[in-house]
Amino acid sequence: MTQPAGMPRDAWATRLGFILAAVGSAVGLGNMWRFSYVAAEGGGAAFVLLYLIFVAIIGVPLMTAEFVVGRMTQESPAKAVSRIGGPGWRPLGLLFVFCGLGILSYYSVIAGWTMRYALDAARGGFGDDAGAYFMRVGTGMPAVITHLLFMGITVAIVLGGIKKGLERTAVILMPLLFLLLVGLAIWAGTLSGGGEGYAYYLKPQLAELLDPTIITSAAGQAFFSLSLGMGALMTYASYLSSKENLGREAATVAVTDFGVAFVAGLLVFPIIFHFGLQQAIGLGDPISDNTVGTLFISIPPALASVGRLGDVVTMAFFVMLFFAAITSAISLLEVVVTAVIDGWGWPRRKATLVFGLVIAVLGLPSAYNLNFLDFTDKLVGQTFLMVGGLFTAVLVGYRIRPQAEAELAQGLLHPGARAAWMSFIRYVVPPVMLVVLLFLIPEVWTKFRALIGG
Ligand code: PHE
Repeated sequence: MTQPAGMPRDAWATRLGFILAAVGSAVGLGNMWRFSYVAAEGGGAAFVLLYLIFVAIIGVPLMTAEFVVGRMTQESPAKAVSRIGGPGWRPLGLLFVFCGLGILSYYSVIAGWTMRYALDAARGGFGDDAGAYFMRVGTGMPAVITHLLFMGITVAIVLGGIKKGLERTAVILMPLLFLLLVGLAIWAGTLSGGGEGYAYYLKPQLAELLDPTIITSAAGQAFFSLSLGMGALMTYASYLSSKENLGREAATVAVTDFGVAFVAGLLVFPIIFHFGLQQAIGLGDPISDNTVGTLFISIPPALASVGRLGDVVTMAFFVMLFFAAITSAISLLEVVVTAVIDGWGWPRRKATLVFGLVIAVLGLPSAYNLNFLDFTDKLVGQTFLMVGGLFTAVLVGYRIRPQAEAELAQGLLHPGARAAWMSFIRYVVPPVMLVVLLFLIPEVWTKFRALIGG
């Protein structure tokens, strides 16, 4: 978004363009790769129910808050929070940037897997042992190559500015991806033994609903999947010039994001039980190495079972997943790049190239070691996002409350809805996030110990 001084700032061509870009950021590997693996880890249905609750009580209010800050300031998130909050809020902006760097570093590795899988499906197959195949291409040199390739593509798109590449790609691809998912889920419903998969996915056990590990992972998934806590959606809202109803936009994005993840689950779980893949992915086992590969281990053998057509569908599936990943990766990189442009006055080109390279290097350990990837995901993709979200709520609910309310009033006309939103931001989001974070810290510590082999 570089433009000579004095020129108006770039803006969305249409309201739909904004919604689709925000949905493009939200819908990504989180909905399929991450959702299916944390749901598998977290006992299935209990996780799904808790996840839904977090999306409703934390996700929608917080997303609205990010939209409010973005549209109000029309600035990069890193700069926006310190301008409206004062210099004491600078660390929050830095945290946003740090999350962008950290998450994209391993996100790109996983997105690289989708490219590899799409190519291998086109070449006709993955061999007999899906688990072994995943270990072979998911780490080491093959993973490094696809990771670097993916970062290169992301950098190229971000160099082109926002409207040209992004809006157009998102408009076409998101609906297509959803249709393919629904089609595949219907097909998975015809598999024998799928019933057990649905039961695992849809029938919660009461005890599990109170399990702190499942609660924290459901909350973390809500942040990650909705792109919350690091200013990604704030960035997009800063390009909004018109007075949209931000509460409604947030609800639209959240419902769409949940819908995609939910359908992905309807696809993956019947497959896992039909093909007896519980062992291969370490179902319900929180320390199995292979859970991160759940999606990649379950899809190929399933579709291969229907022959050549299966290969075509597998390829289509991973190509679309790749595109979903790209639109999310762009939003991650945008937070970093706009911060550097605003903060250091770098031209967009230089900021994108340099930080694209930095992220490519940061991703190397994740490409070599799945435990490292898993740890970074837990630390940055889950914990730090929650910290960012917690402080965003405090900023909006306590520090700039009147301005935030006034900003939301432009578009959201119902005073009751605005008051309810402010109550959630002040009295629900901060305490709930604090409690969840308290539970999360020992978990992160355990993962860290596992990583260093202690
Ligand atoms: N929401 C994206 C996904 O589900 C990931 C993401 C997280 C993007 C945080 C931006 C910010 O894949």
